[in-house]
Amino acid sequence: MKIEHQDETQGNALRNAFNEIVGKGQDTFTPTRVVISKAKGVHLWTADGRRLIDFTSGVLVCNLGYNHKGFEKRVKAYSKGLPRNAYNMIAEIQVTASRRLRESIGLPQADRVLWAASGSEGIQKAMWACLARYPERNIMVATRAGFHGKKGLANDVTGEASANPDVRWLSFPLDASADPEQFRGELDALWHTHANKIALLITEPYLGARGSFHPPKWYHPLLQDWCRRHDIPFIFDEVQACFGRTGEMYAFQTYGVQPDMVVLGKGLANGEPASAVVGRGDLIDALGYGGASDTFSGNPRACAAVCATLDIMEEEGVVEQARKTGKRLGEVLARLQQQFPFITAVRGEGMVYGVEMVDGAIANRCVLEAYRASAETGVHFLGPLHGKVLRVSPPLVLKKKNLAEAEELLMQAWERV
Ligand SMILES: Cc1ncc(COP(=O)(O)O)c(C=O)c1O
Repeated sequence: MKIEHQDETQGNALRNAFNEIVGKGQDTFTPTRVVISKAKGVHLWTADGRRLIDFTSGVLVCNLGYNHKGFEKRVKAYSKGLPRNAYNMIAEIQVTASRRLRESIGLPQADRVLWAASGSEGIQKAMWACLARYPERNIMVATRAGFHGKKGLANDVTGEASANPDVRWLSFPLDASADPEQFRGELDALWHTHANKIALLITEPYLGARGSFHPPKWYHPLLQDWCRRHDIPFIFDEVQACFGRTGEMYAFQTYGVQPDMVVLGKGLANGEPASAVVGRGDLIDALGYGGASDTFSGNPRACAAVCATLDIMEEEGVVEQARKTGKRLGEVLARLQQQFPFITAVRGEGMVYGVEMVDGAIANRCVLEAYRASAETGVHFLGPLHGKVLRVSPPLVLKKKNLAEAEELLMQAWERV
């Protein structure tokens, strides 16, 4: 489908030029196909000069906003004089970033780090480590309808069905009235069938890609207890939830668990490609030389960006600020729901929400109308999740006045839907 916008001479030319060269498979569908020329703070500017308030943080990546002065300065300072890539070499910044990450996580049992360059690679490495630690076990338990990435084992444990014969599924509660007994029963049945053959259990704090389903607080502790009882490594995929998104630095804090392996990505380096597994030494050390090596993992520039992100989060009290803004964000979304009957649900926490629309056509229309809310300004959303859910995940540094402006714009724009 060719996407063009009226009065976007530059944007349309670049859209068409991009589409002529780059394969469609690289992107997911976003009705605006926005073309940007610069970004600063929580704002994006289109190639034709309109300003957009960003409600995406890229895709939950640029949590500190775009071109954050302090962040950029730190990255430069930390990586000064170093090669951008350092394969099979060690630079001090890699030691510093690994130590700081371990310290920040603060789980006594999670004392080792494995770096990766994308979320799915981090997931794959965490799973490889568990499989290597327990070579006599082949079964991987995953919670249903999750998203862990599109590659390798991460893909095998994504969704509700797997081509991998060793994957088994466990339900994930989609509403607050779910009965813990059902899940206890499923876990017992899994153990009954596969006793001593289960190498890992992998889950997400909340189902993001499925449309923002945030489980009741008993759910994750229940999984963790089962894992502990049967000596099964508990992997927590915080690729999108880490570094403040849920209103705590880490989502495992929000959900009251202490996983054996925590996988971090996206916001970890505020836009520099980096992900990491922080986990139990006996698991991580089950992989010998080459067991999880690749070209870009933990490169100096990525490690510099992780340190710079941690610096700014600490110095500017970003998590605390996110908690406050998140509360206001929830109130804004509730008011929008009250105003527009086509919004059927608002689900979320911290600075990540899903706004469910009555159907996909309306959801796409809302994205487009938000984009062109006024002649000069708009609000940027990605394409709907799971067909009809708009994800709201602005940079954590969104200010009260930015939120007030976004509310006003959406109130106007969605009148036209
Ligand atoms: C929870 C979760 N895990 C894993 C991934 C995969 O990360 P990446 O796209 O960096 O491979 C994502 C990406 O959206 C995610 O949201």
